[in-house]
Parts: sequence; C-alpha cells; structure tokens
Amino acid sequence: MNELHFNALVAFEDQNGVFHRAIRQQTLADLPAGEVLIKVKYSSLNYKDALSATGNRGVTKAYPHTPGIDAAGVVVASSNPQWQCGDEVICTGYDLGMNTSGGFGQYIRTPAHWLVKKPVGLSLLEAMQLGTAGFTAALSVLGLQNNGVAPENGMVLVTGATGGVGTIAVMLLRKLGYAVTALTGKMSEQQFLLDLGAQAVLDRNQFLGHKDRPLLPTQWAGVIDAVGGEVLATAVKGTGFNGVVTSCGNAASGDLPLNVYPFILRGVHLLGIYSANCPMEKRLAVWGKLAQEWKLPEVSSLCRMVTLDELETEIFAMLAGNSKGRCVVDLGDTE
Ligand SMILES: NC(=O)c1ccc[n+]([C@@H]2O[C@H](COP(=O)([O-])OP(=O)(O)OC[C@H]3O[C@@H](n4cnc5c(N)ncnc54)[C@H](OP(=O)(O)O)[C@@H]3O)[C@@H](O)[C@H]2O)c1
Repeated sequence: MNELHFNALVAFEDQNGVFHRAIRQQTLADLPAGEVLIKVKYSSLNYKDALSATGNRGVTKAYPHTPGIDAAGVVVASSNPQWQCGDEVICTGYDLGMNTSGGFGQYIRTPAHWLVKKPVGLSLLEAMQLGTAGFTAALSVLGLQNNGVAPENGMVLVTGATGGVGTIAVMLLRKLGYAVTALTGKMSEQQFLLDLGAQAVLDRNQFLGHKDRPLLPTQWAGVIDAVGGEVLATAVKGTGFNGVVTSCGNAASGDLPLNVYPFILRGVHLLGIYSANCPMEKRLAVWGKLAQEWKLPEVSSLCRMVTLDELETEIFAMLAGNSKGRCVVDLGDTE
C-alpha cells in the first residue's frame, strides 16, 4: 500500500515568496498520520481553498500543502472499528485542507471522528455538489428557523447570492416557502437568480447607497450573509423587529462597520455560523435533512465538474468575486 502513487494539487512557495500550484505525484507517506485512509472520489472548491491555495497563512501555516476542505470517498483502510473498508464517507471542515492534506488529493487520511457516513438519499457526488457551502447554507437556514423566522414573517435577504453559499441558501429557502431577495454584484445574473427561486434581485451598489444611515426602513425578516463588511452592516440596519441575521463569511470584508441601534431598538439577532467544528450530532442531523426533506435535486444545475488541472482558473475567479454556483472536483482514478 505504501508504494501506491496518487495525484494531488500541491500549493508551494518559491524562493521569492510567490505561491504556485502544481499536480504532484504523492505516496501515502506524504499524508499525515490518522486512523482512516480514504480514496477520494469528489471534492469541491470553497472560498477557504482559494485562500489556502494562494498562500493565505491565516488558513494554512505550512507549505507545500494540498488544499481541499471537502472530500467524499470510500474507506480503504481503518484502524478504528467505527469505519470499515468500503464505507462511503463525507469529510468537511475540521482541519481538512487547512493544515491537514485535503481533498484536492486522490487520498486523504483523517481521524475517525471527522467522518460522516454518507446518508441514504445522497450520492457521494451530490454530497460534494453541496459541500461545505451547502452545509453552511443549511446551517444558516436552520439558524433562522430555530430563532423564529418563519415564511409568514416576511422577506429573507441572501447576500453574495451567486456564490456557493448564496445559491444554495436561495434554493433551500425557496423550497421551504420563504420569499427571498437575492443581493448580488452581478446584475447580469439576475435571471439566473430568479430561476433559482429568488422573488427579487437587488443590485449591491444600489443597496450600499444607503450604508451611511444609522437605521434603514425594516425590510428583512431574516438575512443570510456570506459577505461581511458594509453589506452585512447595511443588511442588519434594514432588518425588522426580532429579525435574525446570520453571518458566515467575509468574501468582501472581515470588518463590521455597525452601530448598536438595530439591536437595542429592534431586537435584531446576529447569529454566527461556523461549519468547520459543527458538533457531530448537529452535523449528522443537517446532512440527514439535506439527503431527505431538504434535498435539492436542482443543485446539480449550479455545478461545474472540473479535474485537478482545471482548478487554477476556478481559484482565481473565486478570489476575484467572479464565481457562480459550485465547482465540483472529480479526482478520477489512481494509476
Ligand atoms: N463560517 C463558515 O463555516 C463558512 C462556510 C462556508 C463559507 N464561508 C465563507 O462564506 C463566504 C462565501 O463562501 P462561498 O463558498 O459562497 O464563496 P463564493 O462561491 O466565492 O461566493 C462569494 C460571493 O460573494 C460575493 N462577493 C465576492 N466578493 C465580494 C466583494 N468584494 N464584495 C461583496 N460581495 C462579494 C459574490 O456574489 P455576488 O456577486 O452575487 O454578490 C460571490 O459570488 C466566504 O467568505 C467563505 O469563507 C464560511
């Protein structure tokens, strides 16, 4: 088994401090120690991967490194009785792809407790079409539901709407009967967002035209934000009484230029969403929902399938804010 060679997309730094990516042949000795060896069938590209692949040390400290915070595949060796050869598993988050060799390699080795058994009702491919982005969209929707935002309360705003989290949040909210306004920087994708199920599409520049006011007319019963910065602040200022705003991302900025008035005058709730260390009980429940009553068969229409050598273009499109929908990685066969 140690003789086995496989391909991985490796990010590395040259002597001038410039980061590059190349497909390199690896052996199992290149993987970290761990209880379960998995042959990866599919991965997907998430924003964190684009950061890791381009040398962001807030995500990945040491290079050379194989990114990929998502992986779905089959167990080929396990020292933990919880997992047997042939088990189909999903791994998202924890340290995968950050400082642990990730899903942009044909094999990963992980602790047993990072793995989720592929739920009945979802294929490995469908799991990666959703990936961390879909899982996070589902956590965000659950956050609204659990804090009292029901479809009859009014409109839900989704920011970064053409991105991975945004597209799946729009679809899921629509499926559950919510009216959705999609906020985007790409008005050329208006019809795409309406086709996903948004009732209205808002231009980000126009939306930010009101950003300097301390409070805005109440428009949103809930907000799912993946963008941060002035977009999140403006969304909070326009959220209605006891409304709920989820914050999962910083695609625009990690800052939050906001005052306290939405909280103390309208009782707005700001809810942080963190998928990587989501407790296992909740993780299983959410994947179970995504495989059954929250299943989104249409999600495949959002997805491009790429090979490892096609990831370079996707990574830079994502960092430039130009990604649309989801990018699934087919790891193919080993030699
Ligand atoms: N907390 C967690 O557990 C968790 C999990 C998954 C993702 N995230 C975070 O969520 C964010 C989105 O992830 P993703 O996978 O959906 O990424 P993505 O596919 O790249 O989508 C991000 C979207 O945000 C918008 N955007 C990009 N740059 C922007 C800018 N400068 N200003 C305003 N809007 C901008 C764009 O949509 P429009 O053009 O339509 O506006 C873009 O498509 C990332 O920050 C990611 O790290 C967090």
